[in-house]
Amino acid sequence: MTIQKLVNLKKIFKKKKLELHTPYFESIDYKCIKESIDSTLVSTQAGKFIKKFRSKIKSFTKSKFIVLVNSGSSGIYLGLRCLDIKKNDEVLLPTLNYIANVNAIKSLNAIPHFIDSENSSLGIDIKKLKSYLKKNFRKKRNKTINIKTGNTVSCLIATHIFGISCNMIELLKLCKNYNIKLIEDASESLGSKHRSKHLGTYGDVGILSFNGNKIITTGAGGALITNNYKIFKKAEHLSQNAKISHKWKYEYNDLGYNIKMPNLNAALGFAQITRLKRYINNKKKLFKIYEKIFLNNELFDLLKPPKNFSWNYWLITILLKSEDTKLRNKVINMLNKNQINVRPIWQLNHKISIYKKCPKMNLSNAEKLEKRIICLPSSAHLLMK
Ligand SMILES: Cc1ncc(COP(=O)(O)O)c(C=O)c1O
Repeated sequence: MTIQKLVNLKKIFKKKKLELHTPYFESIDYKCIKESIDSTLVSTQAGKFIKKFRSKIKSFTKSKFIVLVNSGSSGIYLGLRCLDIKKNDEVLLPTLNYIANVNAIKSLNAIPHFIDSENSSLGIDIKKLKSYLKKNFRKKRNKTINIKTGNTVSCLIATHIFGISCNMIELLKLCKNYNIKLIEDASESLGSKHRSKHLGTYGDVGILSFNGNKIITTGAGGALITNNYKIFKKAEHLSQNAKISHKWKYEYNDLGYNIKMPNLNAALGFAQITRLKRYINNKKKLFKIYEKIFLNNELFDLLKPPKNFSWNYWLITILLKSEDTKLRNKVINMLNKNQINVRPIWQLNHKISIYKKCPKMNLSNAEKLEKRIICLPSSAHLLMK
């Protein structure tokens, strides 16, 4: 297949323009939003859709506790606060990552410590992390200390990229062994399961996003999910300005934020989540089509889900066989010019000016992956008329 032939994607999908990932609205969405408006309960304080949406997420993820927030980014920040991450704590995270994670760490004056990624899931390279921890860290009184800096490594953030799972069994073992807290950034992973367990429910805290480009949307929005009651109560408290619960007093006891999800947004989320299974099925069909298109392709490999994993097919992705940024950019430019919206992966975090001096392991594989990744149009409604 020549690059030029990729323009045929529009013909295959019988569309004039292919967006990367756009939301889809049906009459129930309008109905629920109207119901929220008619009730006047559009804000964060009250309204039935907060409860209804929360219980849908609960039954989907099997997580015990859910705190709805106004974005996935807020959720990550809240998660770090709930795990008591503080100044000079080191937090391990892949450099191949969405920016909200590293920014949340920085805003707490904690120290991001970058780790490498592997090819099959695009997630954390656990083998490499294992030997890195063994060589560069030591255990001391239930803590893991960075030998070089003397700082405590208190947390690891595992991001499940494009809805594909890191090896959570191994990662969980590693975190337990080193007494490191685990946050799963499952922002892109609603509907994805590893060994039948929903992503975001392995770690101490999981984060979901319902931004407009996710598999379902609340406009902007997110959730912190956890099985730990203490974390749940703290997350609830901090997400409502740390206000002490009282009928009429306005008193506060911590540094909090107003980051809860409004009932109006929850109304849209509740309507959308009823279609999640259908959306995953549609996207699976889309993946099968891409599988045929890219079978034995000389330029690209289609990213396939690992074993024991049930994928939500959030962003279907190809990897250039060669590490060639020029070619990657050429493909992306040409397709975007032809109304086929594709995108590269995010800038590696350790290359961003404010993070250049942060501690890191050798990041050679993430460097290679960055040059190869191209995400394809993947909306659930792409195959609908
Ligand atoms: C991996 C990942 N983490 C975090 C976020 C942040 O979510 P939000 O856009 O809801 O703040 C996103 C969203 O784009 C994401 O893709």
